[in-house]
Amino acid sequence: MATLDSLYDDHLRILRQRTDEALAACGFDSLAIHSGRLWMQFLDDQPYPFKVNPHFKSWAPLTDTPDCWILYEPGKPLRLLFLQPNDYWHKTPQMPSEYWAARFHIEVMREASEARPHLMRLPNCALIGEWQAEYSEWGFAAGNPNGLLDRLHYHRASKTPYELECMRLASVRGARGHKAAEAAFRAGASELGIHVEYLRATQHSEAELPYPNIIALNEHAAVLHYQYQERQPPASLRSFLIDAGGEVAGYASDITRTYSSQHDEFQTLIAGMERLQLELCNEVRAGVDYANIHLSAHRRIASLLRDSDIISADADEAVASGLSGVFFPHGIGHLLGLQVHDVSGFTVNIDGKQKARPPGHPYLRLTRTLEPGFVVTIEPGLYFIDSLLAAARQAPYAGSINWKRVERFKPYGGIRIEDNVACTSGVPENLTRSAFSRID
Ligand code: GLY
Ligand code: MN
Ligand code: MN
Repeated sequence: MATLDSLYDDHLRILRQRTDEALAACGFDSLAIHSGRLWMQFLDDQPYPFKVNPHFKSWAPLTDTPDCWILYEPGKPLRLLFLQPNDYWHKTPQMPSEYWAARFHIEVMREASEARPHLMRLPNCALIGEWQAEYSEWGFAAGNPNGLLDRLHYHRASKTPYELECMRLASVRGARGHKAAEAAFRAGASELGIHVEYLRATQHSEAELPYPNIIALNEHAAVLHYQYQERQPPASLRSFLIDAGGEVAGYASDITRTYSSQHDEFQTLIAGMERLQLELCNEVRAGVDYANIHLSAHRRIASLLRDSDIISADADEAVASGLSGVFFPHGIGHLLGLQVHDVSGFTVNIDGKQKARPPGHPYLRLTRTLEPGFVVTIEPGLYFIDSLLAAARQAPYAGSINWKRVERFKPYGGIRIEDNVACTSGVPENLTRSAFSRID
C-alpha cells in the first residue's frame, strides 16, 4: 500500500496546478492562507477549540497551530510562516518534521504580528482566511474573493490519490471506534460510557473529532443530530445509533451504524436498511446525477416501509405524496473530505454555477454529477420522529400509515447506516466497508 509520504508530492503538484489556474483566471499573482486564530469565549480568557482553515490543511496537514501562514507564488518554493511563540504558559508547537515539512521553506515567527511584512511583500495577493479588521492595512488585493474560492472549492470534490489514502486511514480510525462502541453497547454502557470507549479506540481527543459524536440509545436515535450523552444507561436497552468519524491528516470519515439489542423486528428492519444501503452505494458511478441516488433512496425506503407493513401506499405514490419523507427527512448524503459536509455540493462548473435541489427535497446537500475521485456519503435513514408523525396525522396520506406499527417501533428511535464511498471509473470503492474488514 502506498504511504502518504510517497503520494504527497503528486498531491502538491495537483494543488499547484489548480491554484495557478485559479489565480490566473481571477487576476491574482499570489496567495496567502491563514491557519486561523484562537477565539476567546465571552468575558473569559479561555479559547474555544481551535479549528483550522480547511484550505490551510489541504497544503500542510497541521491542524493545531493558530496564526501560521502558507505563502504561495506560482513557480516558487512553498513557504510556511510557523508561529513558535516564547510562551511559558503553553507548550510551544514543535517544528514540523513529518513527510510534508521538507516541501516547505519554513520561517519561524515568535509573534503573530511578524507575518505582516512577509505578507505585504507578496505581489497582488489574495487572502484566504477569516477576515480581521487589521488586514485592511496589510495590502491584500482581496480577501476570500468569490471567484477564486468557487474555483478551488469546485476542484475539492475530486480527491487526489494522497487524499483518498488519508480518507482510507480516517475510515480505519473511525471503524476502530465503532467496533469498540458496539462492544460497549452490548455490555450495557451509558451513552457517555460508549462515547469514552469511542475516544479510547480512535485515540482522538474530543476536540479533534471531525464532528461531535452522535451516540443515541433507544428513542434518542430519532433525533437526527442528537447532541447529549446520558450518564446512566436506560432501564431497558433496545437500540443504538452511532454517527461518529475519525480524522487523518485533516481528512474525515463520517460513519453511522445502528444496532438492535436483540434479534427482534427492529433487527429485521435494520437488515432491510442494510440491504438497500448497499444497493445505493453501488449506484455511486461516474456520470450519475447524485440527486437521482437520493430519489432512489426514497423509493427503496418506501418499499421497505410497505414490506414491513408500516405504510400501505406503493413506493412511487409514497414518494410523490411526501409520505416517504415523514420517515426519511434528510438527504442521502454529501461530499466528504477536508470538511465533513464538504464544499461545492451544488457547484456544477468552475465559474460557480449552482444546480438546485429537486423540488420538495430541501435538505439534500449534493446535486452534482459524480466523477471518479469524488468521495460521498451514502446514509439512508428511517426514523420515528414525534413531530413529523404528529404532522403526518393531519396529512392526506395519514390513512396510509399503520399507526399501530409506528407505535411499536417508536421506542427504538430509528435507523441510519452511513458509508463513505469513492467514485471510480468502474465499481465504487466503499472506504467504510473496507475499513471494517481491515480491522477484523
Ligand atoms: N455526521 C453528520 C452527517 O452524517 O452528515
Ligand atoms: Mn454522519
Ligand atoms: Mn454524513
